[in-house]
Order: sequence, then C-alpha cells, then structure tokens
Amino acid sequence: MVMTTSLCTSPSMESHSILAHMPVMVKETMGYLLTDLSGIYVDCTLGAGGHAAAILQSLNPEGELIGIDRDQLAIANFQRQLKRWPSRVILLHSRYALLGELLQSQDIGQVDGVLFDLGLASFQIDEPERGFSYLRDGPLDMRLDSNQKITAEFVINDYDERTLAALIRDYGEERHWRRVARAIVRARKDGPIESTLQLADIIAGIIPKPQVIKSLSRCFQALRVHINQELDELRAGLDAAVNYLKPGGRVVVICYQSLEDKVVKELFARYSGICQCPKDLPQCTCGVQKVLRVLNRRAIQPTAKEIEANPRARSARLRVAQKISSGGTR
Ligand SMILES: C[S@@+](CC[C@H](N)C(=O)[O-])C[C@H]1O[C@@H](n2cnc3c(N)ncnc32)[C@H](O)[C@@H]1O
Repeated sequence: MVMTTSLCTSPSMESHSILAHMPVMVKETMGYLLTDLSGIYVDCTLGAGGHAAAILQSLNPEGELIGIDRDQLAIANFQRQLKRWPSRVILLHSRYALLGELLQSQDIGQVDGVLFDLGLASFQIDEPERGFSYLRDGPLDMRLDSNQKITAEFVINDYDERTLAALIRDYGEERHWRRVARAIVRARKDGPIESTLQLADIIAGIIPKPQVIKSLSRCFQALRVHINQELDELRAGLDAAVNYLKPGGRVVVICYQSLEDKVVKELFARYSGICQCPKDLPQCTCGVQKVLRVLNRRAIQPTAKEIEANPRARSARLRVAQKISSGGTR
C-alpha cells in the first residue's frame, strides 16, 4: 500500500513528467488550496503530477506534500521528479478512501489542504491497453490499479442482466439502460465480449444514431465508476479529508461528471450543518455539525481560454470548503 517516502534537498528543474495530462484550473486551485506556504498538503489524485508540481513550486522548503494515486504509473512518474523541489514529499500508492489510515501511518495528525482532481488522467484514457476509451480498441480492463480483481470484461460477461442494467442506470445515467443490458446479454451468447470496440459496436447497434456518442460515453463511465467504486471512494475520501483538516484548512474538489458533483454537494451541505432529515420530520434527528464553510456557492468553471487550450477541461467544476471548527467524526 505505502510506496515511497522521500526527503528531497536538492532543487533542480531538469526532469519533468513523462505522462500526458494537462492539469485543470491550476491557478484557481492553488489560490483556494494554499493557505499556509509552510503547511502540509495532500494531493489525493497525483495523476501526471501537474497540480502536485504547482503546489511544490509554491511551498516554502518547510512545506510538505503527500501525493496519493491508485495508479502505480502515477507514483513512479512523480518519484522521478522529486529532485526538483526542496520540500518533503511522501508518495503513496493507495486509494484516497484510506486517507485517514495513510496519514496515521505517516504520523500526520492534521493537514492544511486536501485536493481531489477526480476522474481519469489523459495518459490513462489514451492508452488502449487500459480499456477506458470506446474510441480505441483494447481489452475490457478499466482498473485504475492493476491489483484490483474485477475487470470490465468480468462485469460484461458474468453479471446478470438485472445487475448490469442497474449499474448502467445508476452510474451512467443512461436512459436506454434496459436495452443496453439486454443487448450485451444477447451478444455474449455467441461468445465472450473481450474488447472495447466489440462492446461499443453492441451498444451503438441499439441506440438511435444521434445519441450514440453520448450513450457510449455514459455506458463506459458506468463501468469505470462501478469497477473502481468511484463514488464510495469519494465519500470516504471526503469524510477523511474533513476529519484531518486543520481549522482554516481547505478541501478543493474538481469534478467532471454530475454524479461526483452531487456527492460533493451533499457532503459539503452535511458538514456545513444543513439538516439532512426528511422534510416532514417535526424535529431534527440527524445531528449534523457545522464544521465546514463552503467558499463558492456556484462551482467554478474553467475559462473559455482554458477550454480552448484543453478541451478535456470543459466539464470541470471546482468546489471548495474551509474547515471552521475542529469537529468531525474523529
Ligand atoms: C484527473 S487525474 C489527476 C490529474 C492530476 N491532478 C494532474 O495534475 O496530473 C485523476 C487521478 O486520480 C487517480 N485516482 C482515481 N481514483 C482514485 C482513488 N480512489 N484513489 C487514489 N487515486 C485515484 C487516477 O489514477 C488518476 O491518476
């Protein structure tokens, strides 16, 4: 689980990320995240290291960064760049749902800021062998960590129709969820479905032409969210972030799809003390505490200029909240 701990003392600029990914809303993220330049920050989604590099460029030598990623490639890539910065950097190959345990394992009690830049990095989407893209032929994999057991191939070929349909509905918000599940089950009677393009053809075959691209992206999203348990990860990761933030510390989340954004809004509302009881209950029983203050009522979006330079940024939504008291569930 824990990969690398490294204390770097010789700053140099010679090495850079070899993984492709353009970090999104870097200026906005740094502006909100960094409240103390000698503080401790966690990048829960290291990816190609763009945000992590920006954090380290801003921090004083006494500052500290903990970088987490589920993908071993991301950790190995950033490991190669560590000489660039004088600050202490700890790299952990793990899941951010385990943030609390990870911080405890490093004897860290409180942090100044936590960043979640959700979704996938370009180097993951664009690699056919990872199986994330319906545009590139590759095995049906979709695991962020190759140690995970369940692959997309297993889900597509072994889940019953009902379970498949439910996950396409719940994690893809695809309106043709029933028909897609039925088509998959029918197609696999002729032999296993093994590749991304094979699956894309089956889905495209039953969706009205103008809706094909949207449906493909929703169905592939549904599989990925399920396989990597992305929404449960996010809930657990955010809970831990809130618990480990110092009063005054901030959590910044960048979402790329509505299901993630909904989880963030709900959790921020709960930690802001907004009662979660059903409306018809005469008295509050949920016992919410006000431990966070949401700093932006409306999600921050990339500028038109950023989207022009990086079209993958177009769906990004940034939300930020600040810890206002030492409460939480810890
Ligand atoms: C959008 S990318 C982050 C890009 C990064 N901010 C950068 O500047 O390059 C999302 C990253 O989160 C990682 N990830 C997704 N779910 C995770 C989880 N539950 N725990 C840890 N890392 C996760 C992915 O492997 C991917 O590298």
